[in-house]
Amino acid sequence: MIELRKITHDNLREILALELADGQDQYVDTNIYRLASAYVKITNNEKPPILFAIYNNDEVIGFTDMGFYELAESAYLCKEFGDKATYGINHFMIDKKQQGKGLGKQAMIKIIEYLYSFPQGKADAISISYWMTNVAARGLYKSVGFIETGEKWDGNTGEKWDADREDIELAEVGTRLAF
Ligand SMILES: CC(C)(COP(=O)(O)OP(=O)(O)OC[C@H]1O[C@@H](n2cnc3c(N)ncnc32)[C@H](O)[C@@H]1OP(=O)(O)O)[C@@H](O)C(=O)NCCC(=O)NCCS
Repeated sequence: MIELRKITHDNLREILALELADGQDQYVDTNIYRLASAYVKITNNEKPPILFAIYNNDEVIGFTDMGFYELAESAYLCKEFGDKATYGINHFMIDKKQQGKGLGKQAMIKIIEYLYSFPQGKADAISISYWMTNVAARGLYKSVGFIETGEKWDGNTGEKWDADREDIELAEVGTRLAF
């Protein structure tokens, strides 16, 4: 059974031991970076990020990091949909040994159910972006109802994507799931 559990002294090392498959490090930050980033946010009076260990039958199999974004942080909002607040899933990974078993999809469904409780406030949508060449992420998000917003940008610079570019591996795609 898939569960989201808070980070504790007991599971911290297990989270840090989670591994990506070859080539996947181009798609996500490391887990230790996300934990360090959470520390920096909390110690600089920013909204606390929402971090969870993903468990399957009492075993840590993944990790996620989410945030609540309001108008002042408009870069995270889908303006054309009129979103005033959104939960952004900033990081989501399943250990390489546990991938391809349907667990990522089950975990994402749990995350969506959790966000429906509006843990940091009411929002209009959940947003996720992924690198265009990340076919696993694209398939998973589509399978749980996310739709592409039509926004594409250079994942390194944030500049709007020029459709004529051929270095497609640098393109990032926005998706959205309305509450
Ligand atoms: C993306 C990731 C979370 C998917 O987790 P997973 O547990 O392997 O995914 P699941 O087995 O639950 O698959 C769910 C759906 O995702 C899609 N999918 C998963 N792996 C896929 C692959 N290799 N190729 C194409 N589609 C894939 C399919 O639509 C699948 O549904 P289906 O099996 O019914 O067709 C995992 O590959 C991962 O951690 N990748 C590295 C980190 C990452 O890229 N995170 C996302 C950042 S935006």
